Amino acid sequence: MIFNQRVVQPSAKFAQQANLNKEHHSKLLHSALDNYEKHWAELAQKHIHWKKTFTIPMKWNPPFVEWFVDGELNISEQCLDRHLNGSVANKTALIWEGEPCNGLEPLERKILSYHELHAEVCAFAEGLVRLGVRRGDRVALYMPMIPEAVVAMLACARIGATHTVVFGGFSAESLCDRILDAQAKCVITANGGFRRGKILSLKQAVDKAVAECPCVENVVVVDRLGETGSGNYPKSTTSFSPTQMLTGRDRWYHDVRVAGSSHAAESLPAEHPLFILYTSGTTGKPKGVVHGTAGYALWTNLTCQWVFDIKPDDVYWCTADIGWVTGHSYVVYGPLSTGATVYMYEGAPDFPDFGRFWRCIEREKISIFYTAPTAIRAFMRQGEHWPAKSNLSTLRLLGSVGEPINPEAWEWYHSVIGQSQCPIVDTWWQTETGGVMMSPLPGLTPLKPGSATRPLPGIAVDVVDDAGSPVAKGNRGKLVITKPWPSQLRTVHGDPERYAKTYWSTFAGPAGMQKEPYYFTGDGAFKDHDGDIWVIGRVDDVINVAGHRIGTMEVESALVDHHCVAESAVVGIPDALKGTAVYAFVTLKNEVKQAPDWNDERKHALARELITHVGGIIGSFAKPDHIRFTDSLPKTRSGKIMRRLLRDVATGHESLGDTTTLEDVSVLATLRQSSDDE
Ligand code: PRX
Repeated sequence: MIFNQRVVQPSAKFAQQANLNKEHHSKLLHSALDNYEKHWAELAQKHIHWKKTFTIPMKWNPPFVEWFVDGELNISEQCLDRHLNGSVANKTALIWEGEPCNGLEPLERKILSYHELHAEVCAFAEGLVRLGVRRGDRVALYMPMIPEAVVAMLACARIGATHTVVFGGFSAESLCDRILDAQAKCVITANGGFRRGKILSLKQAVDKAVAECPCVENVVVVDRLGETGSGNYPKSTTSFSPTQMLTGRDRWYHDVRVAGSSHAAESLPAEHPLFILYTSGTTGKPKGVVHGTAGYALWTNLTCQWVFDIKPDDVYWCTADIGWVTGHSYVVYGPLSTGATVYMYEGAPDFPDFGRFWRCIEREKISIFYTAPTAIRAFMRQGEHWPAKSNLSTLRLLGSVGEPINPEAWEWYHSVIGQSQCPIVDTWWQTETGGVMMSPLPGLTPLKPGSATRPLPGIAVDVVDDAGSPVAKGNRGKLVITKPWPSQLRTVHGDPERYAKTYWSTFAGPAGMQKEPYYFTGDGAFKDHDGDIWVIGRVDDVINVAGHRIGTMEVESALVDHHCVAESAVVGIPDALKGTAVYAFVTLKNEVKQAPDWNDERKHALARELITHVGGIIGSFAKPDHIRFTDSLPKTRSGKIMRRLLRDVATGHESLGDTTTLEDVSVLATLRQSSDDE
């Protein structure tokens, strides 16, 4: 990447109206430096709707932290009840649009005011309690992007049940692993959801998963397809098989909800686990990242004010699915806590055509738009004529998240979508951080295409060398967070040692400059001559494919699960559209290669079969883009696969660097001779 090619100065007009002005910003920076605990305590007093206020701002027992320790709150009140006494009560909280069926518009559309959303959350919270779900229980959600998904999250929060949302693109097997790990008592799903004109068979996947999960007592099903005639949706014109409901276990959502209930929100300790979200790491098993309540509520709220500059008249759209952390923090908790109007859509961005997003922006008068670089690149490839058909003049701020945005995509986003009028907030953060950690501040920070620029006030980010010392300007290193912060993950569900080891052992301190352990992000970064930070990408065995985080080990385990595979090694290689593509090297069992039917045709068929197999085990988004069969894999003498060499081979690099640690150099010749089989 070429750093620092261009700087776009902030617009004075934007700066005059921004929620966070220069003076306020510098005050915040100073107060965080002066007295870190006091700084956060003051913000928490001001921006959180406490049921019982706290006296202890922070307890730091490295690597475990607690914030606002003895306070009590309920985040559903932060997002709903506290808006009900004023003008926000009748304001639109959610505008939802279903996927355009058969390519036709007008569409299915639902609008809920804050008052209505509150009533629905209370009705479902009461229903969940009557089903036997209690404070401290875990509830899994496997849902399409429909308003009930938001309602279910907030209803869980209201009764103190910890939710774990599993993205609807995950397979039944992945869902099962997550339900078991969380020991969820209840699963909330739908009998379908629409994506590219097809119906997602969510309930069937739940049935398959739950058959292996004795912990699940109830499955609640939203009638998205209108099959009962009693739910909230018209009958689907796309045909579907009737939903099988298991007596005693399965209930329709519309039967569970208790209309008219004003279910009071539980008063929960500040640290009460709000949700568990599974994310890929460097080992095969995804980690259950646990987030607490108050610190998370505070930071998602503040970042919505500071980074997204949400104001009362905005119509805000974050395109993330609620199955990912971006959906949690910036579709649900953050924007609703600021009283924003949130737009939410079902389906794929490119269906029925590449104009869908832009028509949505024109129709709903979206003013703040937050999406991922992979989507921007996909739109860019389709040409300017798609956005040109819609009036995008209501947009005033654009955001990017999930992976480094390449300057070319940034420029297109800025000039074509933002008509060179909108600041772009390139937000760097992670599932573990709960909210945005680094981003330019709109109207204040000069924008550099491709850089998330600086940490937000109160957040201590640095780029360090392997010894933990900050790198000098103009150098690369590892991205760390040097102080605990309110919205950080608290632990890995059921595995505190893994939490300590994964995040806090690389820079354990005290050493050199380091007095305390640093949180290691897993990312590499460059600090430019102005001190701005450019996140380059992962330095561990995690790859970022189209903004989705995938552990190479997870894909390897899925490949080895196939009866023909002996061994596999997966690497990420650059991809113009997805950012990174999944490249799998596979060695086959001898009996496969020695079988009489082993020929090129069988090879290609097997490669396709393996791709489908990975999709079935993890989910479609993790399918390898390339499979290469090889007789052996390059390993060090201690048996470690040399991924660097594989990356070189996969990208066609001739120079393979230092190969002296390679156990068997002849492997290289074998690898070079092999070619992509799919
Ligand atoms: O590598 C970084 C990349 O995405 C990783 C976090 O992935 P996940 O936990 O799935 O959360 C994604 C949404 C917050 C990071 O470690 N990443 C995220 N945002 C950026 C980014 N890389 C560069 N620039 C960003 N703005």
